[in-house]
Amino acid sequence: MEINGKAVSQQIRDEIKKEVDLISGRKPSLVVILVGEDPASQVYTGRKVKACKQAGMESKLIQLPDTTSQEELINLIKELNTAPDVDGILVQLPLPPQIDPDLIARTVHPEKDVDGFHPINLGKLFLGEDDGFIPCTPLGIIKLIEHFKIETAGKHAVIIGRSNIVGKPMAGLLMQRSPTGNATVTIAHSRTKNLEEVVRQADIVVAAIGKPKFVTKAMIKEDAVIIDVGINRLEDNSLVGDVDYENVKDHCRMITPVPGGVGPMTIAMLLHNTLKSYRARH
Ligand SMILES: NC(=O)c1ccc[n+]([C@@H]2O[C@H](COP(=O)([O-])OP(=O)(O)OC[C@H]3O[C@@H](n4cnc5c(N)ncnc54)[C@H](OP(=O)(O)O)[C@@H]3O)[C@@H](O)[C@H]2O)c1
Repeated sequence: MEINGKAVSQQIRDEIKKEVDLISGRKPSLVVILVGEDPASQVYTGRKVKACKQAGMESKLIQLPDTTSQEELINLIKELNTAPDVDGILVQLPLPPQIDPDLIARTVHPEKDVDGFHPINLGKLFLGEDDGFIPCTPLGIIKLIEHFKIETAGKHAVIIGRSNIVGKPMAGLLMQRSPTGNATVTIAHSRTKNLEEVVRQADIVVAAIGKPKFVTKAMIKEDAVIIDVGINRLEDNSLVGDVDYENVKDHCRMITPVPGGVGPMTIAMLLHNTLKSYRARH
């Protein structure tokens, strides 16, 4: 069965819009900062701003040249941190080499950190405290798990990839003592031995690697649920995930397609986090 993230995300976006429409006065507001002219980043930031507007929120894209210094970016973020009419600040990654993304993640005020990358918010996630912000992609996956009533308790979840924005927070959420947690979690990465064998043991596979069609049928246990986070553009300009979808789809219980699986949920969760931030200050 295909997990249709596009449909679920639309449903969530409609619900958020209804809530935003009921707000009189200042609407929730997101500022997106794009440094440089990376074409993929331009597409992503454009989609984020548009999605906010469609939900009735305020949204502004600040575009800076790729020669922007780290200090200039930090000064802009500090200004936005104290601006009373800004609820969310998102700095699009990747950043040019003169800017340290970890320092930038620490500069965004944790109460406006709708990407959930600040150490305070990642700490809250691992402690199971729910007043912080959870990174949008793992949160979107949890919403899919909730929506499709995918059982996680006692299941073996194998996450391939240990990035701070996907793999690690995903592990934290799936191991949490919660209705969408209680899984036994394994994180695999490029130094994992016998990866095929490890993944074959999984009831739930989360692939966040960044390598086209990396996960093959031979690596999947029948009946597994496959969550494909990867977004890879091929030479013919088509988009594929980290899972060999065509070969795996009839061999597993459920699978997210690319595009139309995890990606749309990420955007819906950005709106969710922006509304959450607004609610926390109103
Ligand atoms: N759908 C969405 O909204 C969304 C959001 C974010 C990211 N993405 C996509 O998801 C993918 C992953 O993103 P990311 O930011 O997490 O990537 P990342 O920071 O590059 O991390 C990739 C991870 O994959 C591991 N890896 C690489 N080659 C491997 C191999 N041969 N065997 C096992 N593990 C291997 C790496 O291991 P090491 O740590 O050992 O290097 C690393 O932990 C990308 O395609 C990205 O575009 C999608």
